[in-house]
Amino acid sequence: QPNGLALVPPMGWNSWNHFGCDISEKTIRAAADAMVRTGMKQAGYAYVVIDDCWQGERDGEGNITADPARFPSGIKALADYVHARGLKFGIYSDAGSKTCAGRSGSRGHEYQDARQYAAWGVDYLKYDWCSTYTQDGKSSYQVMSDALRASGRPIVFSLCDWGTNKPWLWGQNIGNLWRTSGDIYDGWESREGHYNGMTNILDRQAGLESYAGPGHWNDPDMLEVGNGGMTQDEYTAQFSLWSVLAAPLIAGNDLANMSGPTRSILTNREVIAVDQDELGVQGRRVFKDGDREVWVKPLKGGGRAVVLFNRGAKASQIAVDWDMLGYPRETSMQVRDLWQHKNLPGTSERFATEVPSHGVVMVRISR
Ligand code: GLA
Repeated sequence: QPNGLALVPPMGWNSWNHFGCDISEKTIRAAADAMVRTGMKQAGYAYVVIDDCWQGERDGEGNITADPARFPSGIKALADYVHARGLKFGIYSDAGSKTCAGRSGSRGHEYQDARQYAAWGVDYLKYDWCSTYTQDGKSSYQVMSDALRASGRPIVFSLCDWGTNKPWLWGQNIGNLWRTSGDIYDGWESREGHYNGMTNILDRQAGLESYAGPGHWNDPDMLEVGNGGMTQDEYTAQFSLWSVLAAPLIAGNDLANMSGPTRSILTNREVIAVDQDELGVQGRRVFKDGDREVWVKPLKGGGRAVVLFNRGAKASQIAVDWDMLGYPRETSMQVRDLWQHKNLPGTSERFATEVPSHGVVMVRISR
């Protein structure tokens, strides 16, 4: 992306997955405070993003305003509050006439809104796709991309068309990240309707690897870690897989009331380092046999991050062969377990281990 931002996948928090429309300036301030207090900021999370439902009416000049009941102090004050904690501030709008929750979208007001966001101190814009009817995807996102650039403020641009317009084919010079699927929900497999379980979203990432790179990332949607609908093993799997995919790590839980186990997933520095690796290569699935999978991400300096993933109902043995990693069979490699934080005995040919049901083992393999 010509704005030079997001050279590694963006990290932050967004209000939608936990709070939905039930937000206020209190919710957002509490999240910013918790980001600092819990060590999330120190672990690399930077953006505090308000999703849908912050907007009030447009005024007589067409300027977007904040919902006066939910955000009585206004957006500028909230951005200042977030910035004062050393964090960055994000907001949400829509390429159509209305947002998905029926608030005012930016259609026809793109430059005016971008100027307003810049004046408020916005650092990140998530831009949705509801009420767009016959609008063209690429040109609709191009208009806001140009408007953000014209505002003069560096603003990360997050495209949210749910993969409708295949944004991976044209998004690279328009946005910094783009959703590849419909909405995630806090569950393992898809439900009726448009809610995608985390495994279904994962499947949609395979084949999109070549479109990701520094400044422009595939976005398999926000994290559900800590929202209560999945087990600790399942959340550990989501965090590991999203990291191997070089996905944006946008937490979606209630940071102010997060449990110790949730915090230990979200702040695992060794796993975060895989996501944030400067090479910026999205990992790919190199092995699949029924419920058993191996996902691999090349790292700067020649190592590989490997996720052994078991979708099955029982624990299962999974192996990664050096062949799958592009290493000669006879080489003895170092293996480090990124969840146990320990080096395992060096080995040649392959690494094999038991993987829990609906869980992962994640290692870094290097010479
Ligand atoms: C869409 C998006 C979600 C969220 C909601 C808000 O469904 O995909 O991520 O922003 O709108 O209404």
